Amino acid sequence: MPTLIKNGTIVTAADTVQADLLIDGEQVALMGRNLPSEGAQVIDAAGKLLLPGGIDVHTHLELPFGGTVSSDDFFTGHRAAAFGATTTHLDFVIQPVGGSLKEGIDEWHAKSTPKAAIDYGFHVAITDLRDDVLTEIPSVIDEGITSLKLFMAYKGLFQIDDTTLFRAMQVAAEHGLLIMVHAENGDVIAELTKQLLDEGKTAPKYHAVAHPAIAEAEATGRAVALAGISGASLYVVHVTCEEAVEQIALGRAKGFPVMGETCTQYLFVFEEDLARPGYEGAKYVCSPPVRQPKDAAVLWKSLAGGDLQAISTDHCPFWYEGGVEGRIAGKELGREAFHQIPNGMPGIEDRMPVMWHAGVGGGHYSANRFVEIASTNPAKIFGLYPRKGTITVGSDADIVIWDADKEHTISAATHHMNTDYNVYEGMRVRGWPEKVLLRGRVIVDGEEWLGAAGEGKFLRRKPFGDVL
Ligand code: URP
Ligand code: ZN
Ligand code: ZN
Repeated sequence: MPTLIKNGTIVTAADTVQADLLIDGEQVALMGRNLPSEGAQVIDAAGKLLLPGGIDVHTHLELPFGGTVSSDDFFTGHRAAAFGATTTHLDFVIQPVGGSLKEGIDEWHAKSTPKAAIDYGFHVAITDLRDDVLTEIPSVIDEGITSLKLFMAYKGLFQIDDTTLFRAMQVAAEHGLLIMVHAENGDVIAELTKQLLDEGKTAPKYHAVAHPAIAEAEATGRAVALAGISGASLYVVHVTCEEAVEQIALGRAKGFPVMGETCTQYLFVFEEDLARPGYEGAKYVCSPPVRQPKDAAVLWKSLAGGDLQAISTDHCPFWYEGGVEGRIAGKELGREAFHQIPNGMPGIEDRMPVMWHAGVGGGHYSANRFVEIASTNPAKIFGLYPRKGTITVGSDADIVIWDADKEHTISAATHHMNTDYNVYEGMRVRGWPEKVLLRGRVIVDGEEWLGAAGEGKFLRRKPFGDVL
């Protein structure tokens, strides 16, 4: 039976319009005033906004990392995402040591297919660019994957050298693949880490000392320059600081095809949080590290003004107290020394409400710009638009019925992520999803979960995504 959402206000990146929405099957079939309701299941959205489902293009579900595995799998992570108004995400396949890209892709499909409850796609992270892997790169397009990730940090684990980055960029430019980088100077970080440990500086706060902002800016500038030379489209993930934004802005001013995202936590969590009493700071250890309020001010401006095009989460959750009560090991692994703390934070559930509340409510940008950075631009850049990222005739009916007046206090006691802490604990947000539809089906209704494992679809994406 078709679904008619009546009396709502549709907010897209471009427009805010009052219109009814008819969903037939999995897609939006019709938009207009006073659409007839005969034969349809009716949802009354009077006084509510209709937003396209959020798209989080940077997540790590069930990622083996830091001596353990991130604590959300493709079911718990998807359910949490849906409760937070996100209906699509892109996760990072990691090329296995000595293996092919295809082996990594198969591994990620095996983890995700039976559990998926929202729609999702993959990027592939290249860790070992042997000649056979270089020739393998274009075949990822046949797998529906159109973005490659390279880590310029995590020495001895994921880190690649400039030759690898440049060669990957050249192939990417030829085939319309997007290059994504984790931009930090991994050699400098490894050396600073060693020196700090030798001096007995082992507390979580030293994580930030080992990862200076200028080391992020240096790597960002290097990646931007290589993109300029190779012609590859570049998307810098988790940009944290003023100096790195400057490098992206400089590249864009020169006409290089470079873009960047920041992540929710970099707007709300700061270096001082790493120095919280006891071992609390470990909760906030991620790479690049959280910075200073003055950096957050630049990030807000860049999100509003266009030098950063998207907001994601880098959702990579670990238990604070892991290894007990059936929990996998977590942040406690680094009690002896900061470099052993698993890097990452939870956030897939919080991004949309927090970025609405502080971004729209706080006057940083309009509701339309919120939709643009949280859904539309991610869809355009990553080859999903207009199937995802907007509300229009023919697009997937991933619709969030958003109550802009509803208030909610964020807490680990009520969130759905598989972690024992929430980075935004106690934050009272205004603006909350009332219902969430995935391809026309209500999967979240208030506090009720109506989705199911196995219902999320793998999204095959198009190459030559937009450069915004
Ligand atoms: O600390 C982080 N960011 N963990 C996830 C892996 C990455 O670098 O994105
Ligand atoms: Zn990273
Ligand atoms: Zn990440």
